[in-house]
Amino acid sequence: MNATMDAVANIGLLTETARAKLNLALHVVGRRHDGYHDLDTVVAFPTVSDTLSAEPSRTLSLEVEGPFAAALDAGADNLVIRAAEALRAATGCREGAAIRLVKRLPVASGIGGGSADAAAALRMLTRLWNLDLEDEALSAIAGPLGADVPMCLHSEPLRARGTGHDIERLPALPDAAVVLVNSRAMLATPAVFRTLGLAAGDRDEARAVPDHSFAWRDAADLAAWLMETRNDLEPPARRLEPSIDGVLAALNAMPGALLARLSGSGATCFAVFADLGEARHAAAKIADARPEWWVESAPLSG
Ligand code: C5P
Repeated sequence: MNATMDAVANIGLLTETARAKLNLALHVVGRRHDGYHDLDTVVAFPTVSDTLSAEPSRTLSLEVEGPFAAALDAGADNLVIRAAEALRAATGCREGAAIRLVKRLPVASGIGGGSADAAAALRMLTRLWNLDLEDEALSAIAGPLGADVPMCLHSEPLRARGTGHDIERLPALPDAAVVLVNSRAMLATPAVFRTLGLAAGDRDEARAVPDHSFAWRDAADLAAWLMETRNDLEPPARRLEPSIDGVLAALNAMPGALLARLSGSGATCFAVFADLGEARHAAAKIADARPEWWVESAPLSG
């Protein structure tokens, strides 16, 4: 198909990017009586993503393709379909959509792929169906879909507290790059939180992320601050999935790696670099040594 025919065929087609969510720091402040944990997390959205597209249709359908399509159920349980149904239920909209998801982010891997897809579906279908929704109304629809879905609606640097719904936007992050690595292990988030072993009602504000202006001069300044923070889910995730040790060791061994850490409940780990060239070089070296791992490099934001 030539470019003109492509454009004609694509009339009515909307696309939306679903960026990975990276927990630069994740402190668990306490465990609530409803079983959820209160967090204090600083989150970035590097330019690594799934892609969604949709065109008008009488019914609601989802097709999944891409490297991680096989790991995903495209049926009614898929977060994209659940997001579309929640949007219809909240607004009374009766429209349909033929949705396509290109799944490039590993599934159940601590970088919020499913949450990012659900958030992107909400943004995209709001446009496709011409819905007039305030940001707050869209957040309220996103919340019940999962703890990380409201923050993925923003896809910009932020600090999230509580179960992740209490969101504060942060200034732009300094120029930096990340390498993301996953050994293709899948970790179930509830199991990682359980292994942490906090009792219901156990809460301590002193566990919060240390105060800062959250405006860092450069990548080294950001990394120096990150050294004072942690991911509290890293120790339990490492206990459940020993391959994380090897991934962190590989990242730490790379020239230019300022800090390596687990994201979310894992098993994806990341390292921060000052320079995208260095990050790309490190990613190529790791991919070469461990072809079975998933390895990506990208600007930290932007
Ligand atoms: O909301 P979501 O479906 O992403 O959460 C999955 C599970 O992770 C929850 O059922 C809960 O066990 C755990 N979780 C938690 N505290 C959070 C977020 C998730 O305990 N803040």
